[in-house]
Amino acid sequence: MSERSRTLPRRSCLSTPGSSDRFLAKAAGATADMTFLDLEDSVAPNEKVSARAKVVNAIRTQEWDDRVLCVRVNAWDTRWTYEDVIEVVGHAGTRLDEVMLPKVQCAADVVALDLLLTQVEKNAGLPVGHVGIEAQIETARGLINVDDICAASPRLEAIIFGPADFAASIEMPVLTGGVAIPEYPGDHFNYVFSRILMAGRANGLQVIDGPFLKVRELDALRDFALRTRMLGYDGKWALTPDQALVLNEVYSPTQEQFDRAFDILEAYRVATEENNTGAVMFGDEMIDEASRKMATKFLSRGARAGLSRSQE
Ligand code: GLV
Ligand code: MG
Repeated sequence: MSERSRTLPRRSCLSTPGSSDRFLAKAAGATADMTFLDLEDSVAPNEKVSARAKVVNAIRTQEWDDRVLCVRVNAWDTRWTYEDVIEVVGHAGTRLDEVMLPKVQCAADVVALDLLLTQVEKNAGLPVGHVGIEAQIETARGLINVDDICAASPRLEAIIFGPADFAASIEMPVLTGGVAIPEYPGDHFNYVFSRILMAGRANGLQVIDGPFLKVRELDALRDFALRTRMLGYDGKWALTPDQALVLNEVYSPTQEQFDRAFDILEAYRVATEENNTGAVMFGDEMIDEASRKMATKFLSRGARAGLSRSQE
């Protein structure tokens, strides 16, 4: 895994088609926690091979600030995967943090990529283990095997839900994946979101929601993204820079939450370190060690989003 990118924020993960000179040229300038250059579904079959060199060129020549930088290769059930890895990882240099593997069905898919990466790293003079892996869960079989998938390699940094392919895989009667379904009484993906979250967290991974395809409907995106934000997800894919701005906000704590978390930690510190009590009243609420853990998460997410305690 890439030590650099493992804990970096991924509130917004901006997709860029790897065959488009125009989008590649703009990719580094768009605000997002993570950018992934795509060789998979946003690239036409006839462009798959030529897109590799474009992606390598974009990685090597653009100024990428400190964001997570990733390339999505094609899935193992195509004929492109191994050459995607050899061509891109073999020539991209050290700035490439990760490879994203789509349509992961079982742990062996991740192990195969891990083994291939090790050889490519050795031949390219990269430190072995430098390149991390993000795995997409977007089939029924992938979901069934998600526990094993999340534990398959120390290179894994994030697990991602792919709602469009997933809807197709389970034969959900929708034509747009990853948006609300008003006819369904509740959240049609709640089970899937929760299942992936548990597997990811049990293995120390970041957990990411996939695309929201109605790209002009930013309010609807905000509303939908709140579902995974409230469950505990770290971020979501963005298909446009405008979507990324919305997501950076949704997946960050508010200033009020950050301040409250800060104050809980301070009250708990005083209680445990100065007064030797494990539980203490904070306003009208009892706080204890579990409260400290919850507050710590808010603080680290807030700090990553650039927040600090506001003045009293
Ligand atoms: C993303 O890859 C999706 O299929 O939703
Ligand atoms: Mg997909």
